[in-house]
Amino acid sequence: MEDGDGFLFKFKGYYFYRKGIDIDFIENLDNFEVREDDVFIITYPKSGTVWLQQLLSLIYFEEHRRGTGKLQTVDQVPFFEYNFRQLDFGKRPSPRLFSTHLPYNLVPSGLKNKKGKIIYIYRNPKDVLCSYFHFGTNVILQVTSTFERFMEQFLEGRVIGSLWFDHIKGWYEHKSLFNIQFMMYEEINKDLRGSVLKICKFLGKELSEENIDAVMTKATFENMKYDPLANYDDIIKTAYGKNVKGHFLRKGTIGDWKNHMTVEQNERFDKIFQREMKDFPLKFIWDV
Ligand code: A3P
Repeated sequence: MEDGDGFLFKFKGYYFYRKGIDIDFIENLDNFEVREDDVFIITYPKSGTVWLQQLLSLIYFEEHRRGTGKLQTVDQVPFFEYNFRQLDFGKRPSPRLFSTHLPYNLVPSGLKNKKGKIIYIYRNPKDVLCSYFHFGTNVILQVTSTFERFMEQFLEGRVIGSLWFDHIKGWYEHKSLFNIQFMMYEEINKDLRGSVLKICKFLGKELSEENIDAVMTKATFENMKYDPLANYDDIIKTAYGKNVKGHFLRKGTIGDWKNHMTVEQNERFDKIFQREMKDFPLKFIWDV
C-alpha cells in the first residue's frame, strides 16, 4: 500500500478515497459473502451513482415510492467500500442493495461466480471529467485546481476510482464472469421510462404502470435536486461543513464538457480516447 495525494489511498493498484475507507474491510473484500439476491450498482465516480441508488430504492421500496419512507437513499442503497454509516451488512435483510466504484478485480469472489446481480452505469468520459472537476474542487476534496491540471490528473488516473479507461474496459472485458447489465447514463437521461423497465426486467421486478410512474416522478433531476432524502446535501454538509459550494446534483445534462474544454484540450482527449478505446464495442453519446 502506498500513499498518493493526501486524499488518495492506493490498494492493489486502485485509488480509494482515504477518508472513507475501512482498511480491514477492503483487505477482506474477496471473502465478503454475496447473497444470490444482492444487487450491486457499479460505476466509475460521477457517472450517475446517486441516480441509480435512487432508482433502485424506488423500485424496491414501496414506502419510498409513496413518499412515506424517511430513510435517505444512501441508507437504502449504501456504498459498499465507503460504509460511512457503519452499517452491519451481514445483518441487512435481503435483498441487499449496494453501490460501489470498485474495479472488476477487487469485488468479492461471490460476484465473480455469478451470485448477485450487477448494473454497471457508464457515462461519456468528458462529462465525467467535468462533473468530477466540480465535485473534486467544490465538494469533497476542497482543493483548488485548474481544469487543465485536473484533466491531467484524470488522464493519469490519479483520482478516486483510478483510470476511467481501465475501469470500464476491465468490467467490460470480464463481463462473462458476472451477472451484469451495462447501461449508459445518457440513455437513462434520454429515456427514463425505457430505462426503468430495462432495470426492472433485469432484476425480475414487476411494477404496475402506476408504480413505474411514481418511480419516474421521484427520479427526475428536478425532484432529486430538491429532495433532501435523495440529494446528499445534508451528508456533504455534515462531513465538510456548511460552506461547501457544490452539489452532487449539479446539472445532470449531456455535453457539459463543451462549456469546459478548450479546442486543444478536446483534441488531446480525443487522441487518448481513440488510442485507449480503439476496439471497445460500446458506443458513447457525447451530445444531446
Ligand atoms: P453533473 O455533475 O454533470 O451534474 P455520481 O452520483 O456518480 O457522483 O454522479 C453524479 C452526476 O450524476 C452529476 O452530474 C449529477 O447531476 C448526475 N445525476 C444525478 N442524478 C441525476 C438525475 N436524476 N438526472 C440526471 N443526472 C443526474
